[in-house]
Parts: sequence; structure tokens; C-alpha cells
Amino acid sequence: MDTDPGRFADETHWRDSLAAWAIPEQIMNQAPTNPWIHPVAQFTVVAPVADSPSHATARAALPEAGSVLDVGCGGGRGALALTPPAGHWIGVDHQQDMLDTFAAAAQSQGVTHEEILGDWPDVADRTPIADVVVCHHVVYNVAELSEFIAALTTHARHRVVLELPLHHPLTWMNPLWKQFWDLDRPTEPSAHDALSIIRGGGHDAHIIEFTEESSRSSAMDTRAAAEATCQRLCLPLDRVDDVAAAASIADQASPRRLATIWWDV
Ligand SMILES: C[S@@+](CC[C@H](N)C(=O)[O-])C[C@H]1O[C@@H](n2cnc3c(N)ncnc32)[C@H](O)[C@@H]1O
Repeated sequence: MDTDPGRFADETHWRDSLAAWAIPEQIMNQAPTNPWIHPVAQFTVVAPVADSPSHATARAALPEAGSVLDVGCGGGRGALALTPPAGHWIGVDHQQDMLDTFAAAAQSQGVTHEEILGDWPDVADRTPIADVVVCHHVVYNVAELSEFIAALTTHARHRVVLELPLHHPLTWMNPLWKQFWDLDRPTEPSAHDALSIIRGGGHDAHIIEFTEESSRSSAMDTRAAAEATCQRLCLPLDRVDDVAAAASIADQASPRRLATIWWDV
């Protein structure tokens, strides 16, 4: 039985901090569409993926023609950056359209691949083990982080590599929520909170902080990005020009600070 009070305090802080990102009901009721959906075009990779410390860290543990399990794979940006040496991709995502894009990317790389539809860790039992497990830009969606991390760990032969923004990825939109709804938004949790939970689970985890080199090249054009921001703000599309003007200032204020968290198994 786990008796470490620090571990439980960290997990409670993580869960409560994420819960504070819930959109107030009176705003949700006015949302024309679901503000939480991930648009597939945003995660469809159209350009070579810029190398990052996350990719270098994963590549260092990957044997020639090895397998990579990409959890919350989206369009496969994480696996793509490891190919070669990766020779087999396993993608897990709870959106079928993401898995279709992942499969197309694998096909274009000439690697063998398999896709598993569902929520991690619920689908862990029917997911094969891989040499390296990567999970990029997912954990701020996960309230029960310990379980999620434990299932990643049991699916890696060599190493697990997470990539995540240093602070919650929607923090950049906080000035927009203030402008359009007069709503103050949270800023927590952070990558260091995730690190504490992972270490509390007994893993010798390391963190590397870095600045994203370039914006994430995707199939999404500027207009579509503004529409997605409008949707995230629970606003109708006839506000898209106002949102685009405000978003271009908020989004370009500073380059994103990211973190790689990794541990060997
Ligand atoms: C922000 S996107 C990141 C996509 C990709 N990893 C990347 O870095 O470009 C998050 C992805 O994780 C998926 N996702 C989020 N939580 C998940 C979960 N618990 N189980 C499976 N997929 C999940 C979403 O559907 C989405 O495709």
C-alpha cells in the first residue's frame, strides 16, 4: 500500500488544477459547437518535423527498425520524427479521424503500422508493447495521471518520452477569455507538477526544458486556426474576425516553452 502523503497531494493538485479549466456552465450553454474537440487538420503533419529534445531522447533508445508506440498520436508527429530508425508504428487515439491520418502518414513512410481506437489507459490491455513509448501533448487532458503513466511504462521495452508545454497549453488564450467573456482562467498545472507525480510513482524521470523552434507546421491555414479558436472560446463563427485579430496578438506574444520528460524502464 502506498503511504507517501506527498504523492497523493501532488495527484490531488494535478486533478484539481485541471478541473479548474472547466468552462462555466452559462458559457458552455451558449457554445454553438463542442469547444474541446481537437481539429484533425491541426495535427496533420505537412512538412518535415523539426527535431526536438523529445525526438533525440526517444531516438537514442530506439534500435534499428524498432517499434514506437505513440499514445494520443494525432497525425503521428511523434512517430514521424523517429523514422528512421523506427520501422513499426503503433498509434493510439480516441478520435478515428486522427488514426486515419496516422495510418496515412505511416504508409507514406513505408513502415508497418497498427492503430488502436480508444482512451488510454482503457485500451492498454489490447495494445502491444513497443521499444519506445512516446506521448506528445496529451497529459494535460488526463486527470488520473498516475494510472496513465503506469500503463505507458508497462508498454515500453526501453524508454518512455513525454512532450508537453511547460504550462497548460491553453494558457495563451487566457487574455482572449478575459476580452470576450470577462473570465479569469487558471494557469496551473505545470510540467513540473507532472514530473513530481511521475517521480512519486518510483520512476527516475528527467526533464529537459526548451523553446519550440518554429510553430508546428500543420495542414491548418490561418482562417481555419481562427475558426478553431472561435470554437474553443464558445463563440459563433460570425465573431471570427474579432477573434483572429485578438488571437494573432495573444499567440505571437512569445514562443512556446516546452518540456521533455523521460525515464528508462
Ligand atoms: C494535442 S493532440 C497531440 C497529437 C500528437 N501527439 C502531436 O503532438 O501532434 C492530442 C491527441 O491526443 C488524443 N487524446 C487525448 N487524450 C487521449 C486519451 N486519454 N486516450 C487516447 N487519445 C487521447 C486526442 O484525440 C488528440 O489526437
